[in-house]
Amino acid sequence: MQDNLRFYLRECLRAQEEERKRLACELHDDTSQLVLLLSRHIDNIASEASNYLPQELRNEFEKLYELSQQAYEGIKRYAQALRPRILDDLGLVPALEWLAQEITKLAGIKVQVKTDTVPPLPPETQLVLFRIAQEALNNIHRHSEASEANITLEYQEDAVRMTISDNGKGFELPQQLSDFAAQGKLGLTGMAERIQLVGGEIEITSQIGKGTKIIVKAPTKLYNESNS
Ligand SMILES: Nc1ncnc2c1ncn2[C@@H]1O[C@H](COP(=O)(O)OP(=O)(O)OP(=O)(O)O)[C@@H](O)[C@H]1O
Ligand SMILES: [Mg+2]
Repeated sequence: MQDNLRFYLRECLRAQEEERKRLACELHDDTSQLVLLLSRHIDNIASEASNYLPQELRNEFEKLYELSQQAYEGIKRYAQALRPRILDDLGLVPALEWLAQEITKLAGIKVQVKTDTVPPLPPETQLVLFRIAQEALNNIHRHSEASEANITLEYQEDAVRMTISDNGKGFELPQQLSDFAAQGKLGLTGMAERIQLVGGEIEITSQIGKGTKIIVKAPTKLYNESNS
C-alpha cells in the first residue's frame, strides 16, 4: 500500500478509536449514572406511595422502573462494546474472554478461548486484535448459524497468531475482499486494513456447510512503517 494512503488510514482509525473512547466515557460516567438515578427515584416514589396509590398506577410505576433498568443495562453494555475498559485495564486475553461470554449470553453460541502465554503486546496491536475478534464474533452471530466458535492465541517466533473459527454455514468469498466493501459490507475489509497497519496479515477461509476460519498474524514488537 502507498505510504501516504497507509498514513491516512492509520490516522482515520486512530481518530475513530479516540472518538469511541470519548463516547464510551461519556455514556458510562454520565448518561448511565443519570439513568440509574432516575431508576432509583422511580423505585422510591413507588415504594413510598404504595399504600395509597391504586393498583393500576403501581403497575405503571413497576413498568417504568423496569424500563429504566433496561435502559441502564443497555447503555452500560453499549459503552463497554465501544471501548471495553477491560482491554485497557487487564489486557487482551481477559478482553477476549469477556467478548466470548458476551456472545454466549447474547446468542447462545458456545465460544472457547485458548491462549498461549503471550508476551506483552504493543497497545495498538492489542486493540487491532480485539477489534478483529469483535467483528468476527459479530459476523458469527449475525451470519453463521453456528453453534460453536473458537478463539485461539498462539505465540511463535516474535509473532502472535489469532484464529477465530466457527462451525456454521460458511460463505463464498468474492475474488477480492474489496468486492464486499463495494456492496457496503465493511467488516472483513476493515479487519484486513487494521491488521496491515500493525504490520500483520490475514487469511480468511470459508467452506459452505462447514464453517469459517479467520487467521491473523501480527509481530509482537511495535511495527515501524519504515520497515515495510
Ligand atoms: N462467520 C461467517 N459465517 C457465515 N457468513 C459470513 C461469516 N462472516 C462473514 N460472512 C459473510 O460475509 C459477508 C461479509 O462480511 P462483512 O463483515 O464484511 O460484512 P457484513 O457483516 O455483511 O456487514 P458489516 O460488517 O459492514 O456490518 C457477510 O455479509 C456474510 O454473508
Ligand atoms: Mg460484519
